[in-house]
Amino acid sequence: MLKKVLLGIIAVFALIQLIPSEKNISDQKDPELFTLYPTSNTVKNILRTSCYDCHSNNTEYPWYSKIQPVKFWLADHIEEGKEHFNIYEFQNYRPWKQFHKIEECLDEIKEGEMPLESYTYIHTDAILTELQKHEFDLWAHGVLDSMKRQYPADSLISPRKRKELKEKKD
Ligand code: HEC
Repeated sequence: MLKKVLLGIIAVFALIQLIPSEKNISDQKDPELFTLYPTSNTVKNILRTSCYDCHSNNTEYPWYSKIQPVKFWLADHIEEGKEHFNIYEFQNYRPWKQFHKIEECLDEIKEGEMPLESYTYIHTDAILTELQKHEFDLWAHGVLDSMKRQYPADSLISPRKRKELKEKKD
């Protein structure tokens, strides 16, 4: 009985290895965000080392990523991460969304929510030091300030927030 169960598990494990999954890799090296706003090498490296794997079009796949169900699990993280924020798509977001995403990055990093804890168990180099967090903070505030100078104030408010404000006024 136990032997059968074990064989069954091994068979399932072997079979799921055959499921193909698309890799998150593109030719583009760095995002336009870096040319839109002055970005120091320190901040570029923070984003490259700690965020790209889940929030860009380029994931560096470790050897174990070839093994299912790890492959599924990673693909799921990448898909979800990119859906929330893709650094490579930044320039295509509406101004309010760009503004909001930078604000969210600030919050996520400050609260230690990003990079995801499950990721930093293995990618210990992705853990941000206090100094790195500070550098990121300065850069992100610089981007926000520069956006405020560039865009009319109400274009930096999300449509939902704008509606709420309008309802309050009425
Ligand atoms: C291992 C994958 C992974 C890494 C690495 C990672 N993230 Fe995320 N990130 C996610 C996932 C998954 C979500 C969506 C679910 C959630 O909020 O937990 C997310 C959500 C976000 C959001 C959106 C939050 C929201 O409320 O919609 C921001 C902003 C963000 N991450 C920024 C970053 C930054 C900045 C870094 C690097 C310092 C980073 N992430 C590193 C996986 C990752």
